[in-house]
Amino acid sequence: MNIAFFDSGVGGISVLKEALTLLPNENYLYFADSKNAPYGVKSSEHIRALILDAVDFLVQQNIKALVVACNTGTSVAIKDLRKKYDFPIIGMEPAIKPALLNNLNKKVLVFATERTLLEDKFHSLVNRLEAKHRVDYLPLQELVMCAEKLDFKESIILPYLHQKLKDIDWSEYSSIVLGCTHFIYFYPHFLKVIPKDITIFDGNKGTVKQLQKKLKDIEANEQNIPNEIEYYISKEKTDVKLLTRYLQLLG
Ligand code: DGL
Repeated sequence: MNIAFFDSGVGGISVLKEALTLLPNENYLYFADSKNAPYGVKSSEHIRALILDAVDFLVQQNIKALVVACNTGTSVAIKDLRKKYDFPIIGMEPAIKPALLNNLNKKVLVFATERTLLEDKFHSLVNRLEAKHRVDYLPLQELVMCAEKLDFKESIILPYLHQKLKDIDWSEYSSIVLGCTHFIYFYPHFLKVIPKDITIFDGNKGTVKQLQKKLKDIEANEQNIPNEIEYYISKEKTDVKLLTRYLQLLG
């Protein structure tokens, strides 16, 4: 049976990459809803409808678990998905907690999509951590479509980031949190525009550890097969070459 990874597009491939390392003996199905990307500028109702439709399709593909490898999708649809299906469903959570613990005297700056930062899920997390005064946030929505279009040129990305970050007083911060899976492709760009003493956090490893734990709960025996990956772009089965290209970009 397959483990399905879902994202509005190619961002979740960065989470799949962690899974290929941590859980190499599994079969994966990656669903990129690229025809409907970006999600981050859409209403929560619209995104929820797109995800429920995509997951209805995925359940017909023999899946045993689902990773919503999309912070935006998790924010708006994880509750509905868990209500509807009884297989393990793992979502993304911005890695704010470890970032706060990294330095107790400084603040954390979260980058995510416009929708994620508007949703209750994000603000409840910050409140739960009692960290309202220590967490700032900024949408970097345009990076999503840059990643979709394989547009990683420094001549485009660096001026965009410089412009977005021009008012940040970095002496107030210890870390940034990448709260959108598409942003993982831009690690090299972030490293060029943020000061060296700022640590970058993302939720990818945490999500895959969670997946590993859930699989242990449902499976008595570890499978021992070389992994296979299937790639779907909005319900159309697609050559894995493109997915492989993105995996390579992640190093
Ligand atoms: N990759 C997604 C996330 O983690 C969504 C990006 C988008 O489609 O706007 O939030």
